[in-house]
Amino acid sequence: MNDNDIVIEAWNTVLFDKFLRFKHLLIAGLAGHSDELLSRHLFPAGARVLDVGCGFGDSTVRIAREVGPKGEAVGTDCAANFIAMAEQDARAAGADNATFFCADSQCDDLHGPYDHAFARFGTMFFMMPGAALRNIRKALKPGGVFTQVVWRKREDNPWLHDAELCVRGIVPVVSHEESDQVHCGPGPFSMSGPDMVSSMMKAAGFSGITFERFDTDICIGRDLDDAIEFAMALGPAGEIIRMAGEEGERLKPQVVAALNKTLSRYVQPNGVWAPSSTWFVTARNAA
Ligand SMILES: C[S@@+](CC[C@H](N)C(=O)[O-])C[C@H]1O[C@@H](n2cnc3c(N)ncnc32)[C@H](O)[C@@H]1O
Repeated sequence: MNDNDIVIEAWNTVLFDKFLRFKHLLIAGLAGHSDELLSRHLFPAGARVLDVGCGFGDSTVRIAREVGPKGEAVGTDCAANFIAMAEQDARAAGADNATFFCADSQCDDLHGPYDHAFARFGTMFFMMPGAALRNIRKALKPGGVFTQVVWRKREDNPWLHDAELCVRGIVPVVSHEESDQVHCGPGPFSMSGPDMVSSMMKAAGFSGITFERFDTDICIGRDLDDAIEFAMALGPAGEIIRMAGEEGERLKPQVVAALNKTLSRYVQPNGVWAPSSTWFVTARNAA
């Protein structure tokens, strides 16, 4: 398997399973950012919109409602398991104008042309981000707008970074190259630098690139135990533990004790809530 196949395999297997286990937190937590953006009515009735790296497709369904019966929201993801679940959830929600297909956004046909493209945390895991951005732009009509939500720097995202620091102090970090495990790709903070992202977008043929910061607290657990399980499964902390294999498993009791201390500061009567921060990145197909 090449590096790209390894990432796709990860999203379709071990990461899909983990996302499914924590679907109750992820859908609401990640929507905390996209709800703000989508409440601004970016997509007019009748528009055709691509949702890149759509995962469970809840954002696709939300876009489908916005564009109405004469419009279409099309979710795409490289993981067949996410697409199957997105189709099932969209049918259950009665969103007949939400459709889905499985594809690698870096190189496959994205079934354009679209008036708009959207990605909520769907572009940070590409092994070839430049190729993906070019491919997405080519699927847009001339002048079509691509809106992405990506995590800002890790220091402003304690909901993931506090647990990562905790785990790094206990579990030896094994790099992707040193491991034979499948992995998520570049990771959640790979698009956090505006200078780098702006250059990549320009090189891919986008213009009018803007960045807007948005901060909100995210629920990372129904209670402290849930938050600890979540931290040990997902994000950089979860990946460090998984990549460490047996050693990661052996050290889990120490990790639990440390996370207990670290995450307890975020406990509130209605769950465990920690700060998070994103960029809303907007750009136009200059072609
Ligand atoms: C963090 S998840 C975000 C899912 C969803 N957008 C959300 O906000 O809940 C990243 C998604 O990107 C998808 N992905 C990763 N690499 C991809 C690629 N090359 N082409 C298409 N999708 C990809 C993964 O399968 C996964 O569903």
